[in-house]
Amino acid sequence: MAIIPNPHKTTGLLGWIDDRFPLTKLWKDHLAEYYAPKNFNFWYFFGSLALLVLVNQLLTGIFLTMNYKPGADTAFDSVQYIMRDVPYGWLIRYLHATGATAFFVVVYAHMFRGIMYGSHRKPRELIWVFGALIYLCLMAEAFCGYVLPWGNMSYWGAEVIISLFGTVPYIGDALQTWIQGDFSPADATLNRLFSMHVIALPFVLVGLVAAHIIALHEVGSNNPDGVEIKKKKDPVTHIPLDGIPFHPYYTVKDLVGVAGFLIIFAAVILFAPEGGGMVLEKPNFIPANPQVTPDEITPAWYFGVFYAMLRGVPSMFNSQFPGVVVMFAAVLILFFLPWLDRSPVKSIRYKGTLSKIALVLFAADFVMLNYLGMNKPDPTRTLLARIGTVVYFGFFISLWLIPKFEKTKPEPERVTE
Ligand code: HEM
Repeated sequence: MAIIPNPHKTTGLLGWIDDRFPLTKLWKDHLAEYYAPKNFNFWYFFGSLALLVLVNQLLTGIFLTMNYKPGADTAFDSVQYIMRDVPYGWLIRYLHATGATAFFVVVYAHMFRGIMYGSHRKPRELIWVFGALIYLCLMAEAFCGYVLPWGNMSYWGAEVIISLFGTVPYIGDALQTWIQGDFSPADATLNRLFSMHVIALPFVLVGLVAAHIIALHEVGSNNPDGVEIKKKKDPVTHIPLDGIPFHPYYTVKDLVGVAGFLIIFAAVILFAPEGGGMVLEKPNFIPANPQVTPDEITPAWYFGVFYAMLRGVPSMFNSQFPGVVVMFAAVLILFFLPWLDRSPVKSIRYKGTLSKIALVLFAADFVMLNYLGMNKPDPTRTLLARIGTVVYFGFFISLWLIPKFEKTKPEPERVTE
């Protein structure tokens, strides 16, 4: 019997590689023949932008590490050296420091999109859980990085955050000393945070992002209608009727997002790299000094929400532990979102008015808590932080409760645009 040659088999160098490594298969499975819903909108820019910012952080981080010298006596000066003497060192540092802010802007928008369109719902629970792990890892990564310049805010930020572990009943003091490697933030602390920042956490982060995308490509993308495009396939080609190949359609679309993002990012880096004190805070322009506490110890803006909760929750038996628990619970509750949300429809488009109000309220609450976390507390602000904390957790409960009585609109059979 004659063997019919496979017309799709690659030849030449590519064929040689394909016989040993699935290069063409990977390209097809994840780009050229990955069918994504045709109705992606603005909110779908942020996944690819998160990848872009991740690459920016990794690359600029490598170049910073070439001249940065960890150590309580050397770190601050080495950062000044990068800023003043290393060719384009200022650019690399600003790309990295402002890149951290961009990372959180992009990731917050990406998470909000997920909540809005129900992208955490079945069958995408694991994509979401990997995402929540990424977020946790990103927070740890940002905290470690913030300490590295060993400016005065780095020092006091480390002091405040590590002392949170000191509030754990019974073992707190020992735990804090163990994490610090000393009785206050010191050389040992800086060196271990450096090691976490440049080795351990980036590895975990990259691994989690890979898992995130593998899980996404296993089940396929959600979309603004929350409709499963795999349910309606062409009977002959088995291609989803509402799907288009990711490449070239979305590679080109994402390039528009990348261009828009780069314009804004470049403008900030070149014209306002300190972000009005939000990206690089004023006290961090003087070296760490355990004798001089900054006027107000504020966290980086992206931790504002959690810091507001920490300060808002009243202490018990002279301990801030309840605030610490609430703060961690605010992050941990994200992991349960796929199972808390009980609505029969995924996208906010087909939910009722109450769900829409809850979502807007949650977004406004997030912004308010963030503001409160970054500014000096007073009695009114403390009250607002308490109300904001209740609203934050209330939103997650509302996802469970509202569907019990809210009428939803019927989800369409096919995507609507
Ligand atoms: C380093 C950070 C992250 C990167 C690089 C990243 C990357 C991506 C990419 C490329 C996509 C596909 C494109 C898109 O749907 O926009 C995606 C989808 C998704 N991501 Fe992320 N992500 C990150 C963080 C997160 C976080 C923190 C969460 C949530 C806690 C999350 C939840 C999701 C969900 C639910 C989807 C599926 C969206 C859909 O199909 O509608 N991601 N992510």
